[in-house]
Amino acid sequence: MKRKKIVFSGAQPTGSLTLGNYIGALQNWKALENEHHCLYCIVDLHSLTVRQDPKEFHGISLSFLTQYLASGLDPEKNIIFFQSHVPQHAELTWILGCGTYVGELNRMTQFKDKSEKNKDNVNSGLFTYPVLMAADILLYKTDLVPVGEDQKQHLELTRDIAARFNNLYGETFSVPEMYIPKIGARIMSLQEPSKKMSKSDVNANATIFLMDSEDTIMKKMKRAVTDSENMIAYRDEQPGIKNLITIYSSLTGLSIEEVVSNYEGKGYGAFKIDTAEVIIEFLRPFKKNYKDYMNNPDFIENVYKKGAQKAYGLAENTMTLVRERMGLVQK
Ligand code: AMP
Ligand code: TRP
Repeated sequence: MKRKKIVFSGAQPTGSLTLGNYIGALQNWKALENEHHCLYCIVDLHSLTVRQDPKEFHGISLSFLTQYLASGLDPEKNIIFFQSHVPQHAELTWILGCGTYVGELNRMTQFKDKSEKNKDNVNSGLFTYPVLMAADILLYKTDLVPVGEDQKQHLELTRDIAARFNNLYGETFSVPEMYIPKIGARIMSLQEPSKKMSKSDVNANATIFLMDSEDTIMKKMKRAVTDSENMIAYRDEQPGIKNLITIYSSLTGLSIEEVVSNYEGKGYGAFKIDTAEVIIEFLRPFKKNYKDYMNNPDFIENVYKKGAQKAYGLAENTMTLVRERMGLVQK
């Protein structure tokens, strides 16, 4: 029998999950849960690269875990946990950091963007952020990493770090593959469809959050930027409409061609309203699940405690091997 592949992914608990996070990442996480060993992490240490208000951060972290569950991830099938509960993530970060060049980290576009946005807090954690991400992945001998397109560069660095380590110290890590959805790897801003939809966009109308009310979703969709072509077509020249078609197709399972042909000759107004309704329908069970889980904090606590326990065991196995490979004296 073939060994089940290991899957690892995570999202940073800041703000609130967006429709982009769902379509680019969470939807695939769920799709992988039956045929793979999956670990889904709330990467809370990554969030600390930007200053957080401790009280708010605590609530957001728990809310993220609840949103993972509300989106349908089965805690019996997946290991769901907080990064900070498994200290080997930080330990491996140090070791891998000693094998990562400053030049490599300097090339990361996310670092450049984020340091541009946070000029008063360009801290060393922000710089070494991709090493922590590599540690997350390599710690579990991960084969597949389902992420949106914006993580491609970090994944490539992770692969380089793993291969270099294996070369120097002997086969230790799997060199992971990236798993990107064919459609929806980059959901765009509703206001500036040349930019990705982001949790931290200053324009509130640009982003749909999974927790948005039905009214808010309808309003944001009605305001979505389109074009003056007056034709519902899936092409780069019409990025706003292309993005809405992508959203519609990803949430309904209809192919791009089906969506386009269903709306042939119809106006943008009707298409935007229908897309809003697709999102609202899709989010209805999500919101109900969220409410039910929020009323059951003991269940939530049980999920992350059990998750951390399992992850800890797997992480320690890898770390024992890593320490041995490097010549560190075993405890
Ligand atoms: P983050 O919000 O940066 O923690 O991202 C969590 C996951 O969602 C990562 O796999 C991202 O690649 C993915 N993601 C974030 N924004 C988008 C987007 N606009 N379209 C598709 N995937 C996204
Ligand atoms: N850097 C990722 C993001 O911003 C989040 C992340 C951290 C991650 N560690 C990871 C994603 C490991 C996949 C695997 O989206």
